[in-house]
Amino acid sequence: MPLTEPAREGPGVLEAQPAPGAPFKLIVLDEVDSTSTVAKRLCAADAEDRTLVWAVRQTAGRGRLGRTWISPAGNLYVSLILRPDADATRATGLTFAAAVAVADAVEELLPGATAVRCKWPNDVLVGGRKVAGILLESSTSAAGLLDWVVIGIGINVASHPPDDETMYPATSLAAEGAAGAGLEQALGVLCRHLDLWLRRWAEEGFPAVRRAWLDRAHGLEAAIAVRAGDEAVLEGFFRGLDEDGALILDQAGVRRRVTAGDVLPGQAPASPAPSS
Ligand code: BTN
Repeated sequence: MPLTEPAREGPGVLEAQPAPGAPFKLIVLDEVDSTSTVAKRLCAADAEDRTLVWAVRQTAGRGRLGRTWISPAGNLYVSLILRPDADATRATGLTFAAAVAVADAVEELLPGATAVRCKWPNDVLVGGRKVAGILLESSTSAAGLLDWVVIGIGINVASHPPDDETMYPATSLAAEGAAGAGLEQALGVLCRHLDLWLRRWAEEGFPAVRRAWLDRAHGLEAAIAVRAGDEAVLEGFFRGLDEDGALILDQAGVRRRVTAGDVLPGQAPASPAPSS
């Protein structure tokens, strides 16, 4: 599926083309600071729902919680603009829908029965290592409705950052045996799964997404450690997600909701506790 030459980013309107495998309008760029930053600029310029920005490389890729997303050529960097007719409180469900879509896409791209898991809130792991990350940004109208949502997705296709104690251990599709997976193939598979899960989110709501995410959840019912939004490290047993997508942590029988943060690598040294 040949794509047109990457467009140069400029102040004017960027030319879009049909995306492979799904009804998205695709904008292909060469080097950008961040596809999500470009997408947010396009939102301000009235970009349409389902516009997808794809870049070959990023010079200032952004991750969650202010982190950097290292973005050499060879990996997939896309940001999808959505303009859902929905209350702002529903945006969280979109990140979980995107995570399930990315996990399904990664599974399709990998040979054999490799374990693909979703790590709270929206990372995708293969063999316990991070292969993809998702960054959701949104803007809300005065009436509390979503004005726009930008879902930024990075998938390590050809390479991944080396192990380093400051970040979750990473992997790539190539390292997991899909050395032949090309970027255009990966994009097509991703678009198809994103389209499917965005429809399910719109038609069936968060419960369907939540069920699918829990089926793939990393560490469910196990002892975990979570770095919460306030930097405190909380330990306990991972009992699931509530109806808002918060992680339910069981601390000696007391259930606590964690609304922001990251599940840390490895298992927490918590002593076994009965399910409650
Ligand atoms: C994370 O795991 O912290 C989220 C990483 C999100 C990275 C993607 S790459 C495409 C888009 N552009 C960005 O600058 N970030 C997202």
